[in-house]
Amino acid sequence: MHAVEIIIAKRDGHELSDEQIRWIIDSYTKGTVPDEQIASLLMAILWRGMNDRELATWTQAMIDSGERIDLSSVTRPLVDKHSTGGVGDKISLPLCPLVAACGGAVPQLSGRGLGITGGTLDKMESIAGWNMMLTNEQMAEQLESIGVVICAAGADLAPADKKLYALRDVVGCVESIPLISSSIMSKKIAEGTQSLVLDVKVGRGAFMKTVDNARTLAQTMVGIGHRAGVNTVALLTNMDTPLGFTAGNALEVRESLEVLSGRGPADVRELTIRLAEEMLLAAGLDITLPEHNPTMALDDGRALDVWNQMVRAQGGDPEAPLPVAAHRREVKADAAGIVTDLDAYAIGVAAWRLGAGRARKEDAVSAGAGVVWHVREGDDVKAGDLLFELFADDESRFDGGLEALTSAIKIGSDRPNARPLVLEKITFVH
Ligand code: URA
Repeated sequence: MHAVEIIIAKRDGHELSDEQIRWIIDSYTKGTVPDEQIASLLMAILWRGMNDRELATWTQAMIDSGERIDLSSVTRPLVDKHSTGGVGDKISLPLCPLVAACGGAVPQLSGRGLGITGGTLDKMESIAGWNMMLTNEQMAEQLESIGVVICAAGADLAPADKKLYALRDVVGCVESIPLISSSIMSKKIAEGTQSLVLDVKVGRGAFMKTVDNARTLAQTMVGIGHRAGVNTVALLTNMDTPLGFTAGNALEVRESLEVLSGRGPADVRELTIRLAEEMLLAAGLDITLPEHNPTMALDDGRALDVWNQMVRAQGGDPEAPLPVAAHRREVKADAAGIVTDLDAYAIGVAAWRLGAGRARKEDAVSAGAGVVWHVREGDDVKAGDLLFELFADDESRFDGGLEALTSAIKIGSDRPNARPLVLEKITFVH
């Protein structure tokens, strides 16, 4: 087999055979086909796409490049979620313990943030002592005893994706629906979950800017999941405007704890409950029963209890104070009016520039850095009202953060229509 023949076949719009796909993924993982040939193939796939068969084989080859975690010792139904990433999207933090409190087992293998959308691991690492590295045995034990783990994916989980993702990032091949969906689904299938709920974000603060593209991505991932025996559904949710009132690692942990205490911002609570209901339904649990009902488990403290157990089991101290940034700035309203627009992308850029995110994988993040916004679309403001608080450990970062926020909010005279949070549900169609 020759890599160049495979590249030319895809470049010219031909289908690749299963054998060709398995060979190229295996050879790249072993290092016998170089980056430049795979970069060229990825660009051809970005333009030409892959059909269902090619995509199923490509995803399976990525799974087979590493281990498939065996969670068969876990007696509760296994169900996970994945979000394609958004600004202020801290939903995994309250959601995973909530689903465990309602009878599911959630093997949440997470990643770090890159760019403007934060990563669950970065947020969890603001908790003193918390350990993200678990062995597969520790994972299975904690899933059985507590019902949830949030931890890092080990080096052996879909290693082909680790190489492919890093390469796509530097050769302009991230925005391809087959490549995104195989990347996400190979990791979720390899982790051993039985069911999966995808939160596909749509809008300015998301990868997918239009509902049409988000729908295609969701349908593709739902199809891959079902063909691999994972019961998968997706929600398309709004990411034009950010979730909650905080973007930044420790700031988002604090807001998640409010939600776990039965309070917190209405949108974060609504999406947490909605995704929990979808996960529990996918896991075959009856959410009308009190023991499986997520609204009840949030309000009576069961979800918070599971959170505390999970944090302690992974070496963390749930009572320890969260880090606070060394410096703070405020932005106040110049004039009175109605908030007509709050832009998720601009707020994400501000939080990132303040130190909450990283430009390169190796960079460290600041746990306390980020943005708190005090208004939402449709709110009335008076001149002098507090709009944003900015937090940073390094004062030189405020100029960039403040500059990003100049375009983040519009204050006008017409009350905007409320945008629905959940736009669509995508299920498998044969
Ligand atoms: N997240 C992933 O894991 N892979 C992608 O390709 C995009 C987002």
